[in-house]
Amino acid sequence: MSPKGESGLKKKGCCATNKCLIFLCFVVSLGITALIVVALLVMNVRGRFPPEQKWWQKTIVYQIYPRSFQDSDGDGIGDLNGIISRLDYFNYLGVDAIWISPVYESPMIDFGYDISNFTKVDPMFGSMENMKTLIKEAHARNLRVILDFVPNHSSNKHPWFIKSELREDPYTDYYIWHDTAPNNWHSVFGGSAWGWSDVRKQYYYHAFLPEQPDLNYRNPAVREEMKNSVDFWGRMGIDGLRVDAIPYLFESTNVSLNEPPSNLPGFTSEQWEYYDHLYTANLPEINDAIQEWSDVLRKYDNSDDDTDNSKFMVVEIYAVPSIRNAYYTNGADMPFNMDLVEGSYPSCNASCIKKLVEIEYNTLPEGKWPNFVMGNHDRSRLTSKRGITTSGKTYTNVLNMLLLTLRGTPTCYYGDELGMEDVDTISFEDTQDPYGLHFGTSAYKNFSRDPERTPMQWDESPQAGFTNSSHPWLPLNQNHTFINVQYEKNASHITPLKVYRALAKLRQEPAFLYGSFDFRYTDDNVISYVRSASGYSSYLVVINVGTETGTIDFKTPYDYQEGTVKVTTGNFDHEDYALDSTIKLDKIILQPAEGLVILLP
Ligand code: NOJ
Ligand code: MG
Repeated sequence: MSPKGESGLKKKGCCATNKCLIFLCFVVSLGITALIVVALLVMNVRGRFPPEQKWWQKTIVYQIYPRSFQDSDGDGIGDLNGIISRLDYFNYLGVDAIWISPVYESPMIDFGYDISNFTKVDPMFGSMENMKTLIKEAHARNLRVILDFVPNHSSNKHPWFIKSELREDPYTDYYIWHDTAPNNWHSVFGGSAWGWSDVRKQYYYHAFLPEQPDLNYRNPAVREEMKNSVDFWGRMGIDGLRVDAIPYLFESTNVSLNEPPSNLPGFTSEQWEYYDHLYTANLPEINDAIQEWSDVLRKYDNSDDDTDNSKFMVVEIYAVPSIRNAYYTNGADMPFNMDLVEGSYPSCNASCIKKLVEIEYNTLPEGKWPNFVMGNHDRSRLTSKRGITTSGKTYTNVLNMLLLTLRGTPTCYYGDELGMEDVDTISFEDTQDPYGLHFGTSAYKNFSRDPERTPMQWDESPQAGFTNSSHPWLPLNQNHTFINVQYEKNASHITPLKVYRALAKLRQEPAFLYGSFDFRYTDDNVISYVRSASGYSSYLVVINVGTETGTIDFKTPYDYQEGTVKVTTGNFDHEDYALDSTIKLDKIILQPAEGLVILLP
């Protein structure tokens, strides 16, 4: 017998040996490992291990303009106690985070964006005690509180500016001073950005109103002061900051440089848009400052328990992706993506909206989180922007349907959930907004932000439940008799509030929270897309944001046979797409402003 044969015999008889036991053990443990791996894979596919998401990736951010949300003391101006009294509304709505525009001490020339004390609450809004209560009461309702942080400028009534005008150290260089108005730099609000101080007999730089002098970020003492402000609010227990006007933090030190014309059509040399802001916007130095605030704020991240207590920072910017996305890299969680603020005007049809959404997804830096904004206190309300269809329907529901079903954090402006509209009838005499007033009687309407800042419409009573005063700071929209929370909540038919609520609830499903996003049929009127997370339900969203009927076949190209209506804009002239009905997907017909979210089998 060949040695080979011998060895073969030996092998055959090995079962009784130690080697054989080891081999058996090896096979068994391999089998068990394989089973565990398969089980884990199945669980993962079924979504048992969703990607870890921070709270700000899962919530709607709801912007409160505090002057206009709820007045508690009858002066016609909203306040902190007013907000506290309405906190339950957010639980009802399905919103887990509120951003409150500035409530700090201010002469209110720019309604709080001109701050005279960064760590004090203006008495008009209440006290620090009220703020503490607000934070506590919000947290008791699992609601996060994001405050506005306005670092670029202070009020000209801030003690720092007053002392700077007097050349009192260390404040002498807290602002940007020159003997002459050295160049053509313009204010965002129009006119020269150089204001004259009769006290100091020098010019100072202001990117916004003359009453909002820019702080000098090249002065380390200023940097320290602003870090201390962030620290103050971090200690106070806030959950995040919305950072105002981030592009304007630094200006070139070479003031001999004039800004060239932008050549944008339709602007006069008096306007900011007329110039290309090479020396006054988006300077690279901004990154370090943001990082400093972020480091301070994140000291207050608290991971001692299971709760996600990470702090959040979003920076305000209107810019193309190549510019805004740079702000993802310096400690901010995200820059606002304002593309849909313009994209919700009728000049942007469905194909244009699709392009804007694609731009956000395709340009997003690796590992970063997308976001979308459609309205805020500086721009016309979304319902007013897009107008009405020939049959008199507003686009409120389709726009909210879009915003709340996209992948990424949506930021919503108070009242847009109701379909509140701009108040366009405010006379020049009654206009409050300095930006509007700057352009005089003939043009103020093109610039005033008062129309979108009118009081929240809570009910149909004479002051809409906003105030007991007969003189709210801005007039109420007369349509508050039928566009208000109480009516829209209790109506027997589908209302914008009900649609918004249904969408907010649905957003909590994995498909919307973190699922994939894939466009389906789109033309100039209709947009459709599918959201899905493996192991969970998938949804088809189809909306008509256009002016013509859309007829869509989802069967031929995508093989979708039928689905169940889970959210409807409710403004259909027929019953075919009623809530919870199962509908055929080979021919969906949508009139302008109609939309559906359909559960796919
Ligand atoms: C942007 C704010 O949103 C706006 O309301 C304000 O007027 C300017 N920044 C100046 O702070
Ligand atoms: Mg600046």
